[in-house]
Amino acid sequence: MLRSALLTAGRSPSVRRLVEANPLTKPVVRRFVPGTTAEDAVRATRELSEHGLHVTLDRLGEDTLDLSQADTTVRDYRRVLGVLADQGLAERAEVSVKLSAVGQFLPDDGEKVALDNARLICEAASAAGTTVTLDMEDHTTTDSTLGILRDLRVDFPWVGAVLQAYLRRTEQDCRDLATTGSRIRLCKGAYAEPESVAYQQKSEVDRSYVRCLKVLMAGAGYPMVATHDPRMVTIAGELASRNGRTAEDFEYQMLYGIRPDEQRRLAAEGGTVRVYTAYGDEWYGYFMRRLAERPANLAFFLRSLATR
Ligand code: FDA
Repeated sequence: MLRSALLTAGRSPSVRRLVEANPLTKPVVRRFVPGTTAEDAVRATRELSEHGLHVTLDRLGEDTLDLSQADTTVRDYRRVLGVLADQGLAERAEVSVKLSAVGQFLPDDGEKVALDNARLICEAASAAGTTVTLDMEDHTTTDSTLGILRDLRVDFPWVGAVLQAYLRRTEQDCRDLATTGSRIRLCKGAYAEPESVAYQQKSEVDRSYVRCLKVLMAGAGYPMVATHDPRMVTIAGELASRNGRTAEDFEYQMLYGIRPDEQRRLAAEGGTVRVYTAYGDEWYGYFMRRLAERPANLAFFLRSLATR
């Protein structure tokens, strides 16, 4: 119940105004979001890469209903990709893109706008020598996002996408996408979804995650294991070995600020580990999803407010 209340608050403009206006919020947000500018993102990338970690940068912003805002997002992505290339960091860092931030929800031709904008970001990534992964938002966008993925992969076969194990459809999507050259980031799923489309119990989601992992690890694509769950991390390692995969053939992924010691431990043991690093002014929705995921994150937030 707490989870869905926080996710609902994450979509409420009035709660957003309250949280954003509180000067004590920002220092807490910094645990999950290293800064607001491209320079902050590149600095965080450098620091993480010094610990042997890879990075995927997400320029925060979602649900854009404004064409010029979508254009700004595209410009920012292209700029950060240029800076990564100039600073020799493109081998270590790619970008993650929410299609809703580049126009997917615009009335009439939103899908086309998002496809064209994503294409511009892919061109910049290609020039920088790195890749793009499409984030997955709520279930109403899954078909559209996978359709755009298909179109993008014609010209940019390295474009990846996220699949969410809490959706009942995902095991089949994993089967369809576990093909040569396909990069799939498997996460559990962060949105409030109805029972008709999504497993509701954590145990069901975990079982689905393992089934999906089995499909991806046995398939011909490149699995990206996006979880902080120690059990899933262990199972992923075992499945990778069983399928003859080395550290070059799959990667672990975690969010910036979550289990940083584990991120470094896996990298020190020779694993490929990528840290999803979100940056930008539009941190509210992302931050609320992090609070919803884990009561300890919420407790940390409330404690910080109380002790200042
Ligand atoms: P879960 O929340 O089920 O927790 C299981 C266990 O993991 C906990 O019991 C604890 O041991 C450990 N753990 C979890 N969080 C922890 C914390 N903060 N500190 C310490 N231990 C912790 N979602 C989505 O819908 N669309 C997307 O595109 C993405 N993209 C994405 C990219 C990457 C790289 C990651 C890691 C995650 C996403 N997500 C996402 C979010 C994802 O769906 C999910 O909400 C979170 O990863 C939380 O689920 P976990 O699998 O981490 O474990």
